[in-house]
Amino acid sequence: MRLTRYFLPVLKETPSEAQIASHRLMLRAGLIKQASAGIYSWLPLGYKVLKRIEQIVHEEQIRAGHIPMLMPTLQSADLWRESGRYDDYGQEMLRITDRHGRDMLYGPTNEELITDIFRSHVNSYKDLPLTLYHIQWKFRDEVRPRFGVMRGREFYMKDGYNFDLTKEDALHAYNRHLVSYLRSYERMGLQAIPMRADGGPIGGDYTHEFLVLAETGESEVFYDSEITDMKFGDRAVDYDSVDQCQAVLEEFTSRYARTDETHEEALFNDQVPEARRRSARGIEVGQIFYFGTKYSEAMGATVVTPDGGRVPVHMGSHGIGVSRLLGAIIEASHDEKGIIWPEGVTPFHCGIVNLKQGDAAADAACESLYAALTAKGLEPLYDDRAERAGAKFATMDLIGLPWRITVGPRGLEKGVVELTSRRTGESEEMSPEAAVDRIAQIYS
Ligand SMILES: Nc1ncnc2c1ncn2[C@@H]1O[C@H](COP(=O)(O)OP(=O)(O)OP(=O)(O)O)[C@@H](O)[C@H]1O
Ligand SMILES: [Mg+2]
Repeated sequence: MRLTRYFLPVLKETPSEAQIASHRLMLRAGLIKQASAGIYSWLPLGYKVLKRIEQIVHEEQIRAGHIPMLMPTLQSADLWRESGRYDDYGQEMLRITDRHGRDMLYGPTNEELITDIFRSHVNSYKDLPLTLYHIQWKFRDEVRPRFGVMRGREFYMKDGYNFDLTKEDALHAYNRHLVSYLRSYERMGLQAIPMRADGGPIGGDYTHEFLVLAETGESEVFYDSEITDMKFGDRAVDYDSVDQCQAVLEEFTSRYARTDETHEEALFNDQVPEARRRSARGIEVGQIFYFGTKYSEAMGATVVTPDGGRVPVHMGSHGIGVSRLLGAIIEASHDEKGIIWPEGVTPFHCGIVNLKQGDAAADAACESLYAALTAKGLEPLYDDRAERAGAKFATMDLIGLPWRITVGPRGLEKGVVELTSRRTGESEEMSPEAAVDRIAQIYS
C-alpha cells in the first residue's frame, strides 16, 4: 500500500475524551472512529489489525478441532424465554420489536441459539464430541461504555460451545480451549494469564478468565509472581490427548492466580511466599466456562446414549474478546511516540520511508523494495508523501509498524538503506536486498 492512496486519518491533537493510552492511540492513529457511545467504525488500519487477530483465533480454533460457523446478530426472544434468560439478562440486552410485533434482541451471547441448532440436528452420542464456534458482533448495553473498544457496547467476540456426552469429555473440551487460548494470545505477542474466576449464579470451579496485566485494567488480580515467567511457546500438543491437555491445564493453573471475585487472602498467604505475592490490575481478554447441563436441560438438548437411554448434553462456552484485544495489545505495547505492534498482528509488515520524495534514485529504490517485499508475500506500507522526514517518522512511530526501512539519496550512494526496529529504536545499515531478506526471515 502506498500512503498517498491509503485512508489513514491520523489526528494531530490528542482527543480529550480518551482516558487511557490505547484509546488515545487508536483514535490518533486513525484505527477507529466513534459512531455513537460504545460503538465504533473500524477505519482501514484498525480493520486490518482486527482481521489479523481474528485470523489467529480462527487458525488456533481449527487447530484444536473446533468448527467455525456464523450465527446472526439478531435473535428471537422466544429462545431466551425458554432458557429463562430473557428476563434475567436485564438492561444490558438491547431489545427490538420488528414490524410484526415480534420480540427480537441483538445477541449479547449465543448459548440459546447454538443449543437450538444442536437440538434440531444432533440426536446421538455418536455425533459427539462437537465444538462449534463463531466470531460475530455482540451487543451489550453497558451502563458505562468506556476506554474505546475495551468496553464497547457493540463488540466483536469469538464464542465457542462444546457439546459432550459426559462431564469428563466436557472437561477435556475445556482443557482444549485453555491450550488453544494460550497459543492464540502468545501469537498476538501477549501474555494472558489464566486466573480462577467466579462461576456466577451457575457456580462451579470450572471457569478461568485470561488476563493481560495492565495498570489500566478493570479487574483486580492476585497472583504468584512465578506465573509471569511461564511461556507456552511453540510446543506440540495433541488436542485429542486427554492427558496432554490436562497436563497443560495443571501446569498453567497450579500457581495461585485469581481475580478479586474468587480471591482468598488466607489461602494466598498460605500458598505463596511473601516475596512472590503480587496484586495488580488486569484486562480480561477471554473466559472459558464449563456449565454442565444448564442449557441442555432447559431447552431439551439431549442425545441417545450407547445403552439406548437419553441424556442432556454437557456443555461449556468459551469466549475471546477479539475487538477488546486491540486495546489490550496497545496497553501492553506502546511508548510515548505511539503504538508498537507485535509482529503477529501488525497491520503492515514494515514501513518504507522515502527521505527525499521526487529524487529519482530514492524513488526507484523505494519502488524496487516495495516490489521485492510484495513478491515475498509481505505487505509494506510505503510513505510516498511529499513530506519532511520528521513528519514521516512521526507517522510511522504513531501507527507502530514493527520495522521501518528508510531510504535516502545519501545512503543509496553507499548502496545501503536503514532498517529500524520500532521496539528498540535500533537501526542497522544494509543493502536493500539484505533488508528484504531480513524482513522476510522475521515473518517466516
Ligand atoms: N463490553 C465489552 N466490550 C468489549 N469486549 C467485551 C465486552 N464484554 C465482554 N468482552 C469480551 O468478551 C469476552 C467474553 O465475554 P464474557 O461474557 O466472558 O464477558 P464478561 O465477563 O461479561 O466481560 P466483563 O467482565 O469485562 O464485562 C470477555 O472476556 C471480554 O474480553
Ligand atoms: Mg468474562
